[in-house]
Amino acid sequence: EKGTYPYYMLKEINDQPTVMRRIVKEYTKQNGSVVIEPEIVEKIKASDRVYIIACGTSYNAGWVGKALIEKMAQIPVEVHLSSEFGYNMPLLSKNPFFIFLSQSGETADSRQVLVQTNRLGYPSLTLTNVAGSTLSREADYTLLLLAGPEIAVASTKAYTAQIAVLAIVAKAIGDASGNEQSEKFDIAHELSVIASIMETIIDEKATIDQLVTEYLSDTRNAFYIGRGVDYYVSMEASLKLKEISYIQAEGFAAGELKHGTIALIEKGTPVFGVITDKKTAAHTRGNLKEVESRGAHNFVISLASLSKESDQLVLPDVHSLLTPLVSVVPTQLIAYFATLQRGYDVDKPRNLAKSVTVE
Ligand code: M6R
Repeated sequence: EKGTYPYYMLKEINDQPTVMRRIVKEYTKQNGSVVIEPEIVEKIKASDRVYIIACGTSYNAGWVGKALIEKMAQIPVEVHLSSEFGYNMPLLSKNPFFIFLSQSGETADSRQVLVQTNRLGYPSLTLTNVAGSTLSREADYTLLLLAGPEIAVASTKAYTAQIAVLAIVAKAIGDASGNEQSEKFDIAHELSVIASIMETIIDEKATIDQLVTEYLSDTRNAFYIGRGVDYYVSMEASLKLKEISYIQAEGFAAGELKHGTIALIEKGTPVFGVITDKKTAAHTRGNLKEVESRGAHNFVISLASLSKESDQLVLPDVHSLLTPLVSVVPTQLIAYFATLQRGYDVDKPRNLAKSVTVE
């Protein structure tokens, strides 16, 4: 029930801190270790490559999952769109392991891939929000996202829940392999810190509403740029913006703009820069300068330790592996307010259904 909230999307954005705490409670122990079925850990550890298969927002979460699993578990990961993978399957490694990401567990594009990987006899795990869903029943293993029902078409809490559960999986494998970075990573603590920070960001929503008026009220298009995980969040941020506010938005690798797309920057084009990674912050700032000199209206979302006074939104620092869990929250609110201000139905955008059951 959306209770006193005007829209499910706002309620679901607000649910995120609770979901993070629920994930900590269900998937970690007092001593800081994570609890998932040992067989899942063994099977993934025994594989030589993980293939993440998903669509839409789940696909965007998959990219963050790749970064987490590769860093903590040291296993190579490929991320694929279900609708492409099924019909043009790449050459697979010798011992692949498949992870299907799906909020609904009913997405037909993802299911057609699972049918094929089952036929080929490959092991699989579904991360889904819906117990007993098709993708859950048909995969070897399931981990639940524990996000509670997601009703708004635009996915929000399922995205952050997917990243948190993927981090749990990555740590479980990393710990089992004796990876030092993984063993040092106190995930229960980090996710609890993140839950509180999400609350403070959500409390700032009036500021975000104001900024949206300033940046997006009469624009037809917008860009989100970043590098690494900030690029992955940019893809998700732009999907959210376009699917409900109908502003044409593109998430772009900051360094790639100058290879063509920068031609689209005009006077007043809003460009959102996401900066949460020390390694790439200076480079992304350089790219923001490039677009600014071509007239872009820059909006910078940065972590406190990397921030400049002129940045529009500064977020408290969090563990470097989990920054997408906080940087995505303002972008969800940006999409929400842009849609409200344009007078569209936030929860039920045109041409879209909550779960896509045709290929
Ligand atoms: O239920 P799934 O996670 O498999 O759904 C995948 C996409 O259809 C879904 O994430 C879609 O992109 C959302 N509307 C995005 O907000």
